[in-house]
Amino acid sequence: MKSGEPSHTGRDAFGSSFGVLVALAGSAVGLGNLWRFPYLVGENGGAAFILIYLGFVFLVGLPILLSEFIIGRRSQAAARGAFKVLAPGSRWSIAGVLAVLCCTLILSFYSVVGGWGIEYLLKALRFDFTSGKDAAFSTLFTSFTASSWKPLLCHTVFLAATALIVVFGVKNGIEKFSKVMMPVLFVIMLGIAVRSLTLPDAGAGIDYLFRPDWSKVSADTFLAALGQAFFSLSLGSGMVITYGSYVSRKENIVALSAKTAVADTLFALIAGCAIMPAVFAFGISPGEGPGLVFITLPYIFGQLPLGGFIAILFFLALLLAALTSSISVMEVIVAFCIEEFKLRRRAAVALCFAVLWVLGCLCSLSMGLLGDWKVFGKTIFDLFDFVSANVLMLVGGLLVVLFAGWKLGRKVVHDELTNSGALRIPEWFLDTLLFLIRYLAPAAIAVIAIFQWI
Ligand code: TRP
Repeated sequence: MKSGEPSHTGRDAFGSSFGVLVALAGSAVGLGNLWRFPYLVGENGGAAFILIYLGFVFLVGLPILLSEFIIGRRSQAAARGAFKVLAPGSRWSIAGVLAVLCCTLILSFYSVVGGWGIEYLLKALRFDFTSGKDAAFSTLFTSFTASSWKPLLCHTVFLAATALIVVFGVKNGIEKFSKVMMPVLFVIMLGIAVRSLTLPDAGAGIDYLFRPDWSKVSADTFLAALGQAFFSLSLGSGMVITYGSYVSRKENIVALSAKTAVADTLFALIAGCAIMPAVFAFGISPGEGPGLVFITLPYIFGQLPLGGFIAILFFLALLLAALTSSISVMEVIVAFCIEEFKLRRRAAVALCFAVLWVLGCLCSLSMGLLGDWKVFGKTIFDLFDFVSANVLMLVGGLLVVLFAGWKLGRKVVHDELTNSGALRIPEWFLDTLLFLIRYLAPAAIAVIAIFQWI
């Protein structure tokens, strides 16, 4: 079967290798790279954090990514169906249900933050950041997120845009959108990075990004780095299983996974180069936390020559990156509904939109009106973030590597990596990979889970 031909099940499928790559990279590259990575680097001391992060991406993240890929492509089924096909009659399919739950929580708050991106793009288009007002950006941000209707409207628009792409399906919706938008995103981010790196005082920022200061490293640095690797590569949430199920048996999944990880890392580094030199050049502390992109950057855009235009490009990039990710999260849920409830794609998307719209509204309102509604001392927004990123993704990742490493085992892994013998892989590569999948990845996940939950 060639790429582009419908699979034996008559399901939708990706049309080309490039299409698979941009869709996977599109899912991986998102708010995690443009918003979360820069502020984590800032909070955790720069280059040392980046090096630890790189280690985790390739030693832990990549094996999990490949495990999910194997499960998805071999079964040609969605998150829950995949386990039912590969381990009929077992309880493994619970892992698929957890993944769908995880995606539901993620998309609820992701869509709210994506909505903020829309509002900030509009502000940039009105040149609000450059109109000479003083740096009241922090108040601007908190009063916007806490207000009642505006963020809700933005969230609605963002979610509707996501649904509109997903309703067109894998090849005509997700793949087409990613094919056009990922190159655009790349060019914009590269342009901003060059502008930032050529600022007169960019040196301190470059040093910060590339010269490690190991004295700043603590146990928390490792936790933050591994958590970020999970989030940024979209692991443990059924995304790669679902996308993998649309991939032809002719594709080289080792190469695809490696390219996805490299592309994701590259985007994170480019985002770092776009942001940190400017932050240092304007004498701002890099450890500003989650407000870095929505508070610190608008201030910088206000000071920078041509900053008004750069602001437009930056928030456009943020929005595109968020959309290519949100469609992947929605696809996990939609594919599940199509398969489990025998719905048509349209009906599944409508159902998904309705549920996520309500949950997203609750997340958004929890920044203001519903700020007093707390569960375990957390607002709804924080609770969804915590349960998905710190609990469900970890559990999901653990189940996936255990399933691929122990339940499927060496023969199946070999069969999938080589496309039943059509490709060659060295024996040592398989041995190393199996070691990472069976031992190192589960151990790493267990350690961070224990540290985070205790
Ligand atoms: N990886 C995306 C980012 O960096 C977010 C994302 C997309 C995601 N799909 C996911 C996160 C699935 C967790 C699970 O922004």
